[in-house]
Amino acid sequence: MVAGAAVVTDRRAFTESRISEKLSAYLDTHDFDGPTMVLDVDRALDNYRALAAGLAPAHIHYAVKANPEPQLIRRLVAAGCRFDAASRGEIALCLDAGAGADDISFGNTVKKPSDIVWARARGIDLFAADATEELDKLALHAPGARVYIRLLVEHSEADWPLSRKFGAPATEILGLMRYARAHGLNPVGISFHVGSQTRRAGMWKPVLSEAASVWAEARAEGFDMTVLNIGGGFPAFYGEEVEAPVAYGHGVMDLVREYFGEVEYVMAEPGRGLVADAGVISAEVLLVSRKRPSDIARWVYLDIGKFSGLAETMDEAIRYQFDTTADGGEMGPCVLAGPSCDSADVLYEKRPVMLPVALRAGDRVRILCTGAYTTTYSSVGFNGFEPLHVVCI
Ligand SMILES: Cc1ncc(COP(=O)(O)O)c(C=O)c1O
Repeated sequence: MVAGAAVVTDRRAFTESRISEKLSAYLDTHDFDGPTMVLDVDRALDNYRALAAGLAPAHIHYAVKANPEPQLIRRLVAAGCRFDAASRGEIALCLDAGAGADDISFGNTVKKPSDIVWARARGIDLFAADATEELDKLALHAPGARVYIRLLVEHSEADWPLSRKFGAPATEILGLMRYARAHGLNPVGISFHVGSQTRRAGMWKPVLSEAASVWAEARAEGFDMTVLNIGGGFPAFYGEEVEAPVAYGHGVMDLVREYFGEVEYVMAEPGRGLVADAGVISAEVLLVSRKRPSDIARWVYLDIGKFSGLAETMDEAIRYQFDTTADGGEMGPCVLAGPSCDSADVLYEKRPVMLPVALRAGDRVRILCTGAYTTTYSSVGFNGFEPLHVVCI
């Protein structure tokens, strides 16, 4: 598209078709004092059921970090969901919501010894690790616990990759399993994460292939491999088509069967794919300006930015979709920025966003598919701005 070209779209109609009627009606009939994420909990539950159906017989351990709203967690507990917790705080949240200790895995590979002690005392028995030092902590504070070793993913095609930081290389996994066994732990399997927002099931192939080789080696050595944790990565719609949860889940499980055969306990840890499209942020335009009269792109400043919930715009990785109360006329390219007093708080500049030419300060903006990884990324008060508000409907 030519920058600055006149384009007329009916974006509101398009975005309305992407969010639930309940969300749409709520947003149309409410004013918000500050940026607010409205979460349709029923929609998240529908997504849970769709993922559970697509991924069956795998067990869903919802990645609590994606959105830890207590109302959502309680509903998921009641629906039979299990949980992947990253910290003592998330474990406490799940237990308080009624989850059993058996339904919670402590999936962070970097844990505080005191949190391991705390979790163990509450009956948590399934832990992740990717290093001997972490296994030492577990052996000391959770002797006999079941542990899965996380594999470092080399070839992620995800929009938000989780490679590098977590996992041990394939060549080290067997050594870690032996180490775990020698230190009184119960090494039950492996885990990996294909990377968040992996748009198509077919993109899982290289990772599954690598994980399957490690799995086969471990079995050949006599390890009783019972747990295969396929992590998250299930996508949400950010403007590029993605497969629906049931079809995507079937696609992934067909591949899991192809590469691994029958596995006693497959666990999947969806976060984004379960909750993203259940949430919409309502925000406000604070300023529209042009730095120089000759500039093609305007700068549009919102009352929400990188430090108030939209951290995943880092490197423009996650491309949120917007609609505004000024939609319906000519559109033009905009650099989109948040409100805080630093240059890092620019959301999209390399690939500008098309917004209405008529857009003015005070107009409302809906940011779609923001139910995941927004509320908890929001700072507590950077520059004196309140954290992102949440309303559950
Ligand atoms: C261990 C683990 N499991 C699951 C998830 C959820 O991933 P996604 O939101 O891509 O489904 C994450 C995300 O960071 C994670 O770290």
